Amino acid sequence: MNSHPRVFATAATCAPDEMAAPVAGPELSVVVPTLNEADNIVILYDALCRALVGINWEMILVDDDSRDDTVAVARTLAARDRRVRCLRRIGRRGLAGAVVEGMLSSSAFAVAVIDADMQHDEQLLPQMLSELRSGADLAIGSRHVDGGQAIGGFSQLRSMASNAATQVARGVLGVHVLDPMSGFFAIRRGTAEVIAPRLSTQGFKVLLDVIVSADHPLKIVELPYVFRLRQRGRSKLDSSVVWDFAGLLLAKASGDRISARFLAFGLVGLSGLAVHLVVLNVLMSGAMLRFDAAQILAAFSAMTWNFAANNAFTYRDLRLSGLDWVRGLLTFYAVCSIGALANVGVASWVYGNDANWWVAGAAGALMGAVFNYAVTASVTWRRA
Ligand code: GDD
Ligand code: MN
Repeated sequence: MNSHPRVFATAATCAPDEMAAPVAGPELSVVVPTLNEADNIVILYDALCRALVGINWEMILVDDDSRDDTVAVARTLAARDRRVRCLRRIGRRGLAGAVVEGMLSSSAFAVAVIDADMQHDEQLLPQMLSELRSGADLAIGSRHVDGGQAIGGFSQLRSMASNAATQVARGVLGVHVLDPMSGFFAIRRGTAEVIAPRLSTQGFKVLLDVIVSADHPLKIVELPYVFRLRQRGRSKLDSSVVWDFAGLLLAKASGDRISARFLAFGLVGLSGLAVHLVVLNVLMSGAMLRFDAAQILAAFSAMTWNFAANNAFTYRDLRLSGLDWVRGLLTFYAVCSIGALANVGVASWVYGNDANWWVAGAAGALMGAVFNYAVTASVTWRRA
């Protein structure tokens, strides 16, 4: 993106008597990611109305096709108040991706991100906005600066995990803010727009990702707030956040050269090798099958295992189910069979050039893995 935004002329196409005076767009977009938050969003909307008096704002709910009435409630609010919009995403899942899409749908000067469950203090928003107006790029609602507080909002275990992750982020990625795990922040929309293409849509650490993905150091202020108890419903984050966090660290520490998905795919592949060997052993020693018959069955077991594990873990945001699961499995078999040919081809070629057997074997396996990864990414788990 150009750093000097151009202004585009827009010619009015309606007849003069149909032309009403234009209403200026909002200065602040409040992006609210939602997953089954029907009972919370009216409470949050009321709180925003009270907190943002005198500010030209809008509320953008980004919902991942909640099973409760979140979307219906949002539509009702939007019908009553044009400042409310709801973006319903289907076939995609994940807090980070939802937040990025919400930010990109804004044309305001500033974008704030706040949870739907009232854990974040909406009364901080005007101060965040005025920090941005006075030159900051990013204003963070922080539990760890003086006056901020984290206890209460989280279980002891979650607090410990959050603190540990903060220390790791600071050590590994050199992030200096005190609460990079916060889900509550405001950023200049222009800044967000420049960074957006580099952000991961997986996982949930959007703020940390924003900070480490900026191409120049951002001017950041941290403002204290007290992390409150969730209003209604339950937290959506589970133990998979640990994996997401590790993936983000790896990707950013390697300058985006190693993706978390590829690493997950590789780990699943290793576990598949173990499955293969166990099944082979059982079939030969237990069921007394011939080697080649046992080897074929073992290979199918391993592929089935790999598919199921990748679908549940590596691609949980694009998880296939029902008939799509079966279709996915069949394409996975097909791609991996070709991958096996690529594996053997490369291994034989390397071996033929006088390399060690293990160098040749490893080169073949790596080639097979890269092939399987690259092709299944677009064939098996293609985006809707
Ligand atoms: N669209 C969408 N898609 N929204 C989601 C998803 C998703 O996959 N997962 C969660 N959300 C929404 C929830 O509905 C809620 O509004 C918000 O994201 C935060 O989810 P919670 O389930 O309430 O998370 P938490 O309270 O355990 O953790 C929060 O606080 C932490 C500390 O500030 C999150 O904001 C974390 O990112 C943050 O680190
Ligand atoms: Mn919460």
